[in-house]
Amino acid sequence: MEHLINTSVQNIKISGIRQFFNMVAHYEDVISFTIGQPDFPTPLHVKEAAKKAIDDNVTSYTHNAGFIELREAAASFVHSRYNLHYRAEDEVLVTVGASQAIDIAFRTILSAGDEVILPAPVYPGYEPVISLCGAQPVHIDTTETDFKLTAELLKKHITPNTKAIILPYPSNPTGVTLSLEELQDIATLLEKHDIFVISDEIYSELTFYGNHVSIASIPSMREKTIVINGVSKSHSMTGWRIGFLFAPAQITKHMIKVLQYSVSCASSVSQKGALAALTEGKDDALPMKREYKKRMEYAYERLVKMGFTVTKPSGAFYIFPSIKPFHHDSHEFALNLVKEAGVALTPGTAFSDYGQGYVRLSYACSMEQLKEGLDRMERYLK
Ligand SMILES: Cc1ncc(COP(=O)(O)O)c(C=O)c1O
Repeated sequence: MEHLINTSVQNIKISGIRQFFNMVAHYEDVISFTIGQPDFPTPLHVKEAAKKAIDDNVTSYTHNAGFIELREAAASFVHSRYNLHYRAEDEVLVTVGASQAIDIAFRTILSAGDEVILPAPVYPGYEPVISLCGAQPVHIDTTETDFKLTAELLKKHITPNTKAIILPYPSNPTGVTLSLEELQDIATLLEKHDIFVISDEIYSELTFYGNHVSIASIPSMREKTIVINGVSKSHSMTGWRIGFLFAPAQITKHMIKVLQYSVSCASSVSQKGALAALTEGKDDALPMKREYKKRMEYAYERLVKMGFTVTKPSGAFYIFPSIKPFHHDSHEFALNLVKEAGVALTPGTAFSDYGQGYVRLSYACSMEQLKEGLDRMERYLK
């Protein structure tokens, strides 16, 4: 019966991150830097709020858009942190993680034949959804611009079919962020175009230098931007599956239909946990961010000393060194490293073909593991 499976689904591949992870899972004594998952426990007040929700029988369906209190807390959070203005009543949707927010955003706006621009190397969660909508992913090579999407690059790739641009900063896998000036240049270019921007800001609370800037805070961009965020990375809540969509009401009124027929609503218990995160735990990300920054500085210095060419990250918990001084192929390099040195990194090719010649190191691990893994890499490369 397999031949009857939707051909678009048949053509999708399992994420390269997962493929590599599975391939090296049976090697013993391996230090793994492959995980995109915070290594801190979920804050206590979040857990207590969820336990109370269960005890209080908060176990029914919620509004399709999520509890109004949670939407209010999310709107208030992004207002105070990033100067974003969204009405809780009709401009905020609670989703099942940022992953579902991505799915809903694309499925709401894309039709067959549309093009979506992605700055590559890029998180592998977008392309399959775009393809399933019958639309065309258009990757832009950002390896010559410090992994930043610039207005100049963008200008060269916009066509009459461009429906959306994905702006995924702080970036997974590079850790790079865009400044207000850089976003302003993009906004100026887009003034002449009716193109959506899907701004995936899931790492916004993990910005090391200065405050995160959202393109939706630029007045001309608000009407065309769909902001994606969530508590997975900021509050170490990946398993709770709570994300958000922020957009003008004329867009959310369509996105809520896709959400409704997909999941009805996000988990009521998780929503109560997220409410505690965004009210009692507004600053929960700070100590984690401090720790990530310390690890980033350490990993950056060690990698540079070993001879890698590295763009210094300014957010998230990834670093994306070029392996070109040592090897031409990311996959082979990463496989050799597992076998010979006992260290697992994700090959850059998991983040599109433009990741060839790079590897991703996630430092969402203890400082001891980071040190030991980098020591092993250094010995191997010598
Ligand atoms: C850039 C980016 N967007 C979205 C997600 C998915 O987040 P969530 O776990 O909230 O679905 C991830 C997870 O790694 C990510 O790196």
